[in-house]
Amino acid sequence: MKRLFIKTYGCQMNVYDSERMADVLRPLGYVSTDRPDDADLVVLNTCHIREKATEKTYAELGRIKALQRAKAGDGRGGMTVAVAGCVAQAEGAEIMARAPVVDLVVGPQSYHQLPELIAQAEQAGASRPRGERLLAEFAPEAKFDRLEGATRRRSGYSAFLTVQEGCDKFCTFCVVPYTRGAEWSRPAGDIIREATGLAQQGVREVTLLGQNVNAYLNNGWTLARLIRTLAAIPGLDRIRYTTSHPRDMSEDLFAAHAEVQALMPYLHLPVQAGSDRVLKAMNRAHTAESYLRTVERMRAARPDIAISGDFIVGFPGESEADFEATLDLVRAVRHASAYAFKYSPRPGTPAAAMGRQVPEAVKNERLQRLGALLEAQMTEFNLAQVGRTLPVLFDRRGRRPGQIAGKSPYLQSVHLQAPDTLLGQIAPVTITAAASRSLTGVLAQPAELSGELAA
Ligand code: SAH
Ligand code: SF4
Ligand code: F3S
Repeated sequence: MKRLFIKTYGCQMNVYDSERMADVLRPLGYVSTDRPDDADLVVLNTCHIREKATEKTYAELGRIKALQRAKAGDGRGGMTVAVAGCVAQAEGAEIMARAPVVDLVVGPQSYHQLPELIAQAEQAGASRPRGERLLAEFAPEAKFDRLEGATRRRSGYSAFLTVQEGCDKFCTFCVVPYTRGAEWSRPAGDIIREATGLAQQGVREVTLLGQNVNAYLNNGWTLARLIRTLAAIPGLDRIRYTTSHPRDMSEDLFAAHAEVQALMPYLHLPVQAGSDRVLKAMNRAHTAESYLRTVERMRAARPDIAISGDFIVGFPGESEADFEATLDLVRAVRHASAYAFKYSPRPGTPAAAMGRQVPEAVKNERLQRLGALLEAQMTEFNLAQVGRTLPVLFDRRGRRPGQIAGKSPYLQSVHLQAPDTLLGQIAPVTITAAASRSLTGVLAQPAELSGELAA
């Protein structure tokens, strides 16, 4: 038995990829561990989206190096170190040069080749020649074909399932089109097979993933058709999807939200900014107005839908008036959840070379103002649930004894006193209290479910 430690940074697609890496390495005798110190193989699955993400990788590599030395010093054998993910793709050569502890670098589209690479690194042993590097030929077909062959193992009641990879949108601030390649959608048959396998292992909820998941299109299959089909799989009671682009919201997706009970009333639809001038400079291909119309259409289809978003403050050239337009848009949307980031210039992206970069102090001040507004909206959304009875999927034990926790349809964490035999089940909970990040409740009867949530 060999021990595998994977540390995952960044988005849910990396979480999915990490699980799949463990799946392809299992036949080689690797068993996952949550401790890096005695691992035989360490994989850092990295993210390149903002500056700090890259620095975190290097800091972690420093710690790994110390663990590797200690392990070898105690006669506990070697430690192979691999860097995967978006930093690997973007900065493979720099990593090899800057961090000699790294044995191999593998980009997001090449994980199917991991077993061979690891075997080579192991065979070479202590005298191994470093420098094996496999970066993307951006061949997601090959990646997913190979992953198909590896049995997906999943404990727990909620799982991620990647259906789409890559991005053709080229927002001027973003590295993703360079690290993940062009948009590509997996064949529906493979996805249905994987989802069925997950349901057979007790998974009740799948979140369909893609950098632009609503751009999913394969052989006439749209995301909406995929959702309708997956909703019919016995045991799969909840379906979610993320992340969507405002430009790709389609009629059939609105209709699915109105008609498919298993499709959860939650939409993560990043808008980034509220000023049309900034949106244009970002190359977002939508306006504040068109975004608000999309939200309105979604609310017409599903009145209780929870809207979530991402925001960037301090994009080059963003004036105080531009920033206030973002605050106006936020006020108009009323978010259930949201993430705000300071603009971070990424090497090789057009925005990094733009003039009128915004000073750090201004970015900090705007982040604080936007953060406070979003926080207030989240609290308001959560408070509006008090007194309602929501179906909750119980997926973990709570922090206190006798407590369990789960997720509402709106992706809120719900805590309550209840026996842990309820784990893996969906049961009605009447909400008794709310904070900005979680809800508390008591068990209720199915007949009490609120309005649009009654089956
Ligand atoms: N594909 C998704 C998400 C991409 S990355 C989308 O289009 O919305 C997740 C979020 O990170 C983005 O929505 C954006 O808000 C943020 N982000 C991306 N690049 C960034 C940068 N250079 N600086 C700050 N935030 C960034
Ligand atoms: Fe990045 Fe824009 Fe693509 Fe999202 S749509 S991944 S923000 S380039
Ligand atoms: Fe980060 Fe890559 Fe995801 S840059 S956000 S891990 S696609």
